[in-house]
Amino acid sequence: MNGRIPHMVQYQGSKRNLAPQILQYMPCKFERLLEPFSGMAAISIATAYEKRTNQFIINDINRPLVSMLQEAIEHPSRLVEEYSRVWEEQFQYGENHVQHFYNIREKFNNGDEQPANMLYLLARCVKGAVRYGKNGNFNQSPDKRRHGTNPRTLASNVYTISHLLKGKASFSALDYHEILDMAKPGDLVYMDPPYQGVTNVRDNRYFAGVPFDEFAHAIAILNKKGVDYLISYDGACGGKEYGEELPQELHCKKIMLNAGLSSQATLLGKKSTTFEALYISEALIPTFDIFPQQLSLLEVLA
Ligand SMILES: C[S@@+](CC[C@H](N)C(=O)[O-])C[C@H]1O[C@@H](n2cnc3c(N)ncnc32)[C@H](O)[C@@H]1O
Repeated sequence: MNGRIPHMVQYQGSKRNLAPQILQYMPCKFERLLEPFSGMAAISIATAYEKRTNQFIINDINRPLVSMLQEAIEHPSRLVEEYSRVWEEQFQYGENHVQHFYNIREKFNNGDEQPANMLYLLARCVKGAVRYGKNGNFNQSPDKRRHGTNPRTLASNVYTISHLLKGKASFSALDYHEILDMAKPGDLVYMDPPYQGVTNVRDNRYFAGVPFDEFAHAIAILNKKGVDYLISYDGACGGKEYGEELPQELHCKKIMLNAGLSSQATLLGKKSTTFEALYISEALIPTFDIFPQQLSLLEVLA
């Protein structure tokens, strides 16, 4: 994979930087890629780039996010045009450009969830971190120092992504179980559920957490069906491990991927590398002894 994988805007938890490492554990070819927790679909984009399959199922419980991805892939020029309009409008407010973010956020929360609004909120909000309050309203604040991705930069990425995935992807905003129900032998499922530390709130509009036992049970069903999968599931930073391990009886192999220096630690003047766990289903575990870039847990925690 040469160069960086195109992406539209920052998204908290995006696997864009880890994609080259994750793809090393995928088969060369498979029927379909199912991404039940797609977020900004970094893994689908990388997989399309490497031509491992021609069929993608892109799903995320966040409906406006999925609609925005679908628009980017199926109608890229319409999205770029609309986004440019929303983005340009913020300069009418001069120094008080954050006011435009608050106006768009209010519109969005009042039901105008058109893709360009979602995209602008993501492009301008703090750390690309989507946050919804108890009432289901988008409540993340604007990043006051930035204007959000320039439409010209965005356009180039959107056209590349559209070129890679147009006509090959189906889109949905369902709970992940419904996507796992569709999986068949020959498919590959890539799962990236939300960070385990995130509270599991079921009554929010777009965010549903993923309780550990329920998730482990869903994986056991995939095992029974003989479906291959890869799971990103928490990790370790600065000698501390985060999240509970998936149960041994699932027979997956856990490896740690180097996700680079932790920005949080760097802010605090420390240098800690973050590692993210990747679980590989039994049939995909390489038969050769040395895993690409494999690190033992001891090395990670040293
Ligand atoms: C860590 S992010 C995925 C990031 C993605 N891999 C990327 O590269 O952008 C987890 C995603 O899971 C979604 N999600 C949370 N609960 C879900 C559920 N029950 N079913 C489907 N999606 C869910 C969230 O909306 C969020 O976008």
